[in-house]
Amino acid sequence: MLKKKHKNKPTANEEMNILVTGGAGFIGSHTLIELYQAGHTAVVVDNLSNSNPESLKRVAAILRDQTPSIDIEVPFYQVDIRDRQGLERVFANHHFDACIHFAGLKAVGESVAKPWEYYENNIGGTLTLVDVMRQHGCKNIIFSSSATVYGDPAQIPITEQCPKGQCTNPYGWTKSMLEQVLTDIQSADPEWNVVLLRYFNPVGAHPSGRIGENPNGIPNNLMPYITQVAIGKRPELGVFGNDYPTPDGTGVRDYIHVVDLASGHVCALQAIERHCGLAIYNLGTGQGYSVLDMVKAFVRVNGVDVPYSIKPRRPGDIATCYSDPAKAHAELGWQARYGIDEMVRDSWNWQSQNPEGY
Ligand code: NAD
Ligand code: UFG
Repeated sequence: MLKKKHKNKPTANEEMNILVTGGAGFIGSHTLIELYQAGHTAVVVDNLSNSNPESLKRVAAILRDQTPSIDIEVPFYQVDIRDRQGLERVFANHHFDACIHFAGLKAVGESVAKPWEYYENNIGGTLTLVDVMRQHGCKNIIFSSSATVYGDPAQIPITEQCPKGQCTNPYGWTKSMLEQVLTDIQSADPEWNVVLLRYFNPVGAHPSGRIGENPNGIPNNLMPYITQVAIGKRPELGVFGNDYPTPDGTGVRDYIHVVDLASGHVCALQAIERHCGLAIYNLGTGQGYSVLDMVKAFVRVNGVDVPYSIKPRRPGDIATCYSDPAKAHAELGWQARYGIDEMVRDSWNWQSQNPEGY
């Protein structure tokens, strides 16, 4: 159990107790550190379907190292958000000021093969969660959405005003639909504060190298694929297309260091404090890098080889996607601090210290 609060960074926020669903996962575990550093406390609910409880032990160890005098353990419930009784038990034991809702399935390819499982887990789970929250008087939620809701974006850089587009897979539709569900719930009951955070491409890891991304099986995403090639688990990276209308022909994305993304959630609590109603923010750097930019930076910064070959385009991919993050800066005072060199350094630091993950 939580032994004591600590506060090692000044913050404008009130101290809050946050329910973090999916807190054992990649972004959730990094967010726990930022929350505690800002003086907040958290309780994690996760069914461990795509994570390992070791991540939470390491979060506690990182927090202990940062403030040795204070012993912090984040309370953890192995509960599925579709399990109403399980959630009731959690709410019976804790008062929450807000929920940061990461829990969900996120593999794009798997969602095409298993659409029912994705809709049931992500949408069914969120409906149950939100119902239990409102019955316990907690009507503040920060939701993990994605740049995928813009589809093939109508404008670059993408502002929050950019219309939502056609998603190319069921995973993306769960995000787009859940944005609508939460928007409608807020509009029917203005006591709700709903913050939709549209993430661009999270990469990197905590600079300690103790927590990071731990994909199951063959990685779908670029950065974990690069790190697995670099460590010798996979022979080469396939670069999906070099004939896009981009400077070097490969796809351009807005990669964001996971620690920056995590701090965006702490800043988003300010919107809740201000009773924002509905608020939508892009969380990106505003800078686009191509696949080959990422490979070259990885090789240069880490001094390791990443063999690659050009493959056909991946169905559903778009040429270019990067954000205009000005709104989050103007309204939340948030902006990304880490650049491409720290992203590739910390991704490699995590992978090389943990070749088999957790
Ligand atoms: P992750 O898989 O590492 O974390 C998600 C966590 O949710 C896992 O620990 C998993 O065990 C848990 N979970 C899944 N279904 C659950 C359920 N029914 N009940 C309880 N726990 C459940 O993924 P992540 O990269 O940390 O992503 C967090 C959130 O951000 C997800 O909602 C994801 O869709 C979203 N997101 C991620 C990215 C990305 O590229 N990583 C981009 C945009 C949005
Ligand atoms: N790529 C390769 N080879 C690989 C993997 C990826 O060349 O082995 C390329 C892709 O073609 C793309 C870029 O690297 O040009 C990035 O691909 P990712 O799969 O890492 O990321 P996406 O932009 O396709 O999508 C990711 C998440 C989505 C999320 C989106 C926006 O997978 O869930 O970012 O946040 F919605």
